[in-house]
Amino acid sequence: MLIAVVNGPNLNLLGTREPELYGRTTLGEIEQRVRAASARLDVSLEWVQSNHEGALVEAVQALSGRAAGALVNAAALTHTSLALRDALLAVQVPFIEVHLSNIFAREEARRQSLLADIALGVVTGLGARGYELALEALVERLRDG
Ligand code: DQA
Repeated sequence: MLIAVVNGPNLNLLGTREPELYGRTTLGEIEQRVRAASARLDVSLEWVQSNHEGALVEAVQALSGRAAGALVNAAALTHTSLALRDALLAVQVPFIEVHLSNIFAREEARRQSLLADIALGVVTGLGARGYELALEALVERLRDG
């Protein structure tokens, strides 16, 4: 079972980027933790990060017929990208939306997600741990139907 983790703009700066909001864990450290969790769960993992909307659209399109599910932290594109929403609708890969910060406790523009209503669920505000929790929930859901 292949699970993709799709990370959007500026998440490559985690660790030093606004640590009061996003913590001090780097994206590489999050990837290591999620890879360890995927090994425990016996699933394969594909890790993507891009600062470019088109590259993320192409990465999502490329999941078609390959990935059983995905975790998506689209970062700022969560709030703006109809193109990413359309790509996720096109491929029909079940996904959980993940955010490190609690987007509902932030500015008005961040409380809107263009992805949440087409996601299986949303994990927001639990920091890096949210990725692992979302992976466990996703795999459980995919296995149990
Ligand atoms: C984020 C929340 C977004 O609003 C923001 O643009 C990000 C990160 C999060 O993980 O908390 O870049 O997706």
